[in-house]
Amino acid sequence: MLRDDALKGKTIVITGGGTGLGKAMGTYFLKLGANLVITSRKGDVLQKTADELEKETGGKVLAVTCDVRDYEQVENVLAETLKTFGRVDSLLNNAAGNFISPTERLSANAFSTVIDIVLKGSVNCTLAFGKHWIKEKQAASILNIVTTYAFTGSAFVVPSACAKGGVLAMTRSLAVEWGKYGIRTNAIAPGPFPTKGAWERLLPGDLAEKFDFKNRVPLKRVGEHQELANLAAFLVSDFSGYINGEVISIDGGEWLQGAGQFNGLEAIPNEMWDAFEQMTRSAKGS
Ligand code: HXC
Ligand code: NAP
Repeated sequence: MLRDDALKGKTIVITGGGTGLGKAMGTYFLKLGANLVITSRKGDVLQKTADELEKETGGKVLAVTCDVRDYEQVENVLAETLKTFGRVDSLLNNAAGNFISPTERLSANAFSTVIDIVLKGSVNCTLAFGKHWIKEKQAASILNIVTTYAFTGSAFVVPSACAKGGVLAMTRSLAVEWGKYGIRTNAIAPGPFPTKGAWERLLPGDLAEKFDFKNRVPLKRVGEHQELANLAAFLVSDFSGYINGEVISIDGGEWLQGAGQFNGLEAIPNEMWDAFEQMTRSAKGS
């Protein structure tokens, strides 16, 4: 979507960058000329992705093992990034933990685990990188991956909904507070984009067939990873330099489909509309 050198000279850190959507976004950033740092807990997965992406794109990828729940490990990612690339321009908070469960079945620790990864992890990374940029008086950008249920809430993924809602609040708050330092903070709210990590935990067994996401989407399909990567690349690039505090949904219209009171009328066959029109035209009121 963007021209070939759109991210040239930029160093971008993606948490959870070894798999799924983080990997897809990282691949495109590299193709656009960025240096990439990917982090997550599993060093072997990270290194494999780093090797694969360097080979595919010819770019430079640094893999740093880090559990985002641990502030010291996050500070180490920053230190390793500076050691290798000399600077860092963008942080993409993408790491997440999630699984479906009736809330009453969750232990307190299960609830905290998701909050700690998603909300606390995003806070830890934002704080460490933000402090650095403010100290260095360097313009930068933060991009947070939330979900559309950060606006609406959602049953059966309540810890994730609470955490993503918190990340959205942080996005809008820091856009204002850190704008004066030249730090832009934005978010993307993806709808369904099939990944192994998400589908195994959110649609296990035959749920993937029974609860086929594409049936909920007005465009009647799930998202393609490149579509998300296009939007993310734009938001970390200088082409979006005046966008700050925004959350952009990329979901084929899914969440609005669930929200509009009369959207269910989609189920009415076309041939029935003549009869309904007659009835509504002849309505006299009381
Ligand atoms: C109930 C569960 C559970 C489950 C774990 N727990 N899985 N409880 N149902 N399915 C409980 C455990 O019993 C434990 O509580 C606590 O949660 C912590 O579990 P651990 O396995 O020790 O945690 P950890 O190893 O840190 O793993 C974190 C995880 C795991 C979140 C549980 O799934 C993970 O690593 N996820 C990372 C990747 C991921 O989730 N990707 C999907 C993102 S998708 P007790 O009380 O027993 O100690 C996404 C998309 C949203 O966010 C929108 C899609 C459309
Ligand atoms: P994924 O492949 O499972 O990605 C999650 C990543 O987070 C993994 O690479 C995982 O790596 C990392 N991670 C988990 N816990 C971590 C921790 N404590 N510290 C550091 N890294 C950790 O799933 P995905 O679908 O690509 O999700 C990526 C993002 O998109 C998430 O924020 C998710 O909420 C969001 N999202 C996805 C969808 C979708 O349809 N797929 C929809 C809306 C939003 P390790 O296990 O190696 O740590």
